[in-house]
Amino acid sequence: SLPVKNVQELASQNLEAIPHRYIRPETESDEVSVDESSQLPVIDMNKLASGSIEYQTEMAKLHQACKEWGFFQLINHGATTEIENTKAAVRDFFKLPLEEKMVYEQLPGGLEGYGHAFVLSDDQKLDWNDMLAIIALPISARNMRFWPNKPESFRSAFEQYSRVLHKISTILCEMMAANLGVEFKEFSGMYKELVQTIRVNYYPPCSQADKVIGISPHTDGNLLTLLVQVDEVEGLQIRKNGKWAPIKPLPGALIVNTGDALEIMSNGEYPTVEHRAVVNSERERLSIAAFHGPSAEANISPLPDLVKANGAKYRTVKYEEYLKEFLSSRLSGKSQLDDVKIYN
Ligand code: SIN
Ligand code: FE2
Repeated sequence: SLPVKNVQELASQNLEAIPHRYIRPETESDEVSVDESSQLPVIDMNKLASGSIEYQTEMAKLHQACKEWGFFQLINHGATTEIENTKAAVRDFFKLPLEEKMVYEQLPGGLEGYGHAFVLSDDQKLDWNDMLAIIALPISARNMRFWPNKPESFRSAFEQYSRVLHKISTILCEMMAANLGVEFKEFSGMYKELVQTIRVNYYPPCSQADKVIGISPHTDGNLLTLLVQVDEVEGLQIRKNGKWAPIKPLPGALIVNTGDALEIMSNGEYPTVEHRAVVNSERERLSIAAFHGPSAEANISPLPDLVKANGAKYRTVKYEEYLKEFLSSRLSGKSQLDDVKIYN
C-alpha cells in the first residue's frame, strides 16, 4: 500500500482546511432521503428457530428483505456479550497512542493490519477513516502479528466474536438457501468454506464533515456482512430508490447486508446494494464489519437449480480473480459485477 497519513492524527491537529485529497467532488447523486419508509426490515433470530410458531412468517420476511433491501437488522441473535466485549476492545485500541497502533501496521500491498483502506494510487481521493483488518477464519489463515494484544482483552474478544458471528452467518446461509429453494449442500458447496475477515472502521470527527466521505459508495464483494455500529453514532447510508437512505441502528442489533457473491449465486434474486458511510462533525464513529465470503479457490456461479427457468445471468468466476478486479474497479467507481453479468 502507499503511505498515507493517519486520519485520526490529521483530525487531532484541528486544521483550518482539510487536505484536498479528502475533499469530495460535488456530485448530483448525493441526495439524502428523509423518507421514513427507509427503515430497514427487522428480522428476529428467535423466530427463525425451528419450532417457532412464527417461523414461516419470519422466513418470508427474510426472503423479502434479501430481495427488496439487501440489508436488514437482526435482533435476538444471541451474541450480545461477544458484541459488547468486542466494542470495548476496539474503543480501547483506537485510544492507544499512534506508535502503539502502528505495531500492527499494514505491510506494503497488504490489506491486513492497521492502516487505510483501498489506497491504490497516488492521486486517488481518500476516505476519511483509518481501519484495522484481520483475517479471522479459517483459523489456519490467521496472521497473529496483525491481532492487537493491547488492550489485553482484544484477542480473546475477537476470537469469541469471530466464532459467534460465523455461527450466525452459517444459520442465515441455511435460511437463505431454504428460501431460494436450494439444498444447503448445493449452496455451501458453491462457496466451499465461509472465510471470515473482520474490519474495524474508525472515522474521526471532521470540521468539514459534509465535504469528506467516511467510506465511498461501494457494494461488498462477499456473501454476507454482519455490521456493528459501536456507539450508535449514525453514518451508514444505503442506496434506495436512487437516494441515500440513512440507517438508524437499533441498539444491540446486527446490521446484515448481502454482497456480490450472493447476487451471483442467487442468479440476481438477492441483489447486492450500494452503501457508504458519512462522517460526523463532532463525534468519532466506529463500526465493525465481519465479512463472510467464499474461499479464494471457489468458483462462483448461479446455483444450478436457479438457472433452469431463465438461464444464467452471470458467468462463472473464480472468487480470487473476482476480488482482485473488484478492488481495482472500485477506484473508478464502476462495479465489477458488471463484468460478470450476462446481457441477453
Ligand atoms: C462498510 O461498508 O464497511 C462501512 C459501514 C459503516 O461504517 O457503517
Ligand atoms: Fe461495505
